[in-house]
Amino acid sequence: MKTAVAVIGAGPAGLTLANLIQQSGIPCVVLEKASRREVETRPRAGVLEHRSVELLARHGLADRLLASADRHGACEFRVNGRAFRVAYSDLYGGRTHYVYPQQEVVTDLIAAFLEGGGDIRFSVSDVSLQGLASVAPRVVWTSADGVREQVSCDFVAGCDGFHGVSRPSIPSGVLQELVHHHGIGWLSILAEAPPSTKAIIYSMHPDGFAGHMLRSPTVSRYYLQVDPSESVENWPDDRVWMELQKRLSLADGSWKLTTGKIIEKRMLDMRSHVVEPMSYGRLYLLGDAAHIITPVGAKGMNLAMNDAALLSVALSDYYQTGDESGLKTYSDDCLRRVWRAQEFSQWMIGMIHAPTNDPFHARLAAARLEHLASSPAYAASFAENYVGP
Ligand code: APR
Repeated sequence: MKTAVAVIGAGPAGLTLANLIQQSGIPCVVLEKASRREVETRPRAGVLEHRSVELLARHGLADRLLASADRHGACEFRVNGRAFRVAYSDLYGGRTHYVYPQQEVVTDLIAAFLEGGGDIRFSVSDVSLQGLASVAPRVVWTSADGVREQVSCDFVAGCDGFHGVSRPSIPSGVLQELVHHHGIGWLSILAEAPPSTKAIIYSMHPDGFAGHMLRSPTVSRYYLQVDPSESVENWPDDRVWMELQKRLSLADGSWKLTTGKIIEKRMLDMRSHVVEPMSYGRLYLLGDAAHIITPVGAKGMNLAMNDAALLSVALSDYYQTGDESGLKTYSDDCLRRVWRAQEFSQWMIGMIHAPTNDPFHARLAAARLEHLASSPAYAASFAENYVGP
């Protein structure tokens, strides 16, 4: 079997790339470790920036999203029970976020790719990338039926997330790994509970940060700052709801949290991880395979789509005219956006976490929040970074 591009992984990065290059007439095959059902039901991120939606819409991939996603242009900060809103859409050209769960994005992208005649192999195992430094790499895998199969290709797109096989296939010493542990823990909770708010809430409380995020009319996501060494077992459902109500409440007692069935509860590893460069030979890394960002600022899925957009243009240029310049600058082009997002996420982490054992940083966080609440210029800069420049 021969194709132009072997795409490893059917997450937002792999599926966006596969659709875009398919539309440019570039043949590809997508290899995915999980079953179709798994990838279409796995809850993860849920916020798309304006320009991610524009990208999808430009390629006819956003019909269901545009018909059903909630658009958000404001968020709320609560500091010790007192609230202020930042109407970031008004501050930044009317741009909004689109709240649309990642599994819906993935479902739509799979449907569109298959409709266009695309080839996805689900439930594959033992994927191995070979000859990446040559002009004819090879990908070998075991199919869902247990048959060893292979494809020769011109390029491999490593879109298989942080724990995938692509990044570890690069010889040691090639990549520089830039890692930062934020030293905070987040308990992440997904519940079948209608939102108790119209806008995302970031709440600062003496016991730590709490967040109320939006997913759909029936499902909500919440975060609780906890000690990084905490285990989920210490957080029975009753304790989670009590703590959320306490940390999110308003001083006048007017706000009430609607509870529901908790369907996911896990500790998040709050770290940032970037590899440079995002390519090796004929292998290009995209999305979480190349960079991990904390959920603060909701950038993960958007960065994955940006990588896919850049690589699809570079590949189109290569196949249409033989121009390799986009492939050569791919890594630098992606990393500019990646580092800007990391910087913003880091800034926001510093603002919404007031470590009790670190009064200096607690005062800085309070000063940053006060600045955001009182300065239209500062709020406009937040808006630009938050909704996406
Ligand atoms: N072979 C094939 N597929 C693999 C392998 C492998 N060895 N390892 C992992 N995969 C698949 C996973 O099952 C998953 O479907 O690769 C896909 C990677 O998808 P994501 O982890 O969603 O990564 P990405 O597409 O880069 O999107 C990043 O995901 O974690 C969120 O917040 C993050 O929204 C961001 C987005």
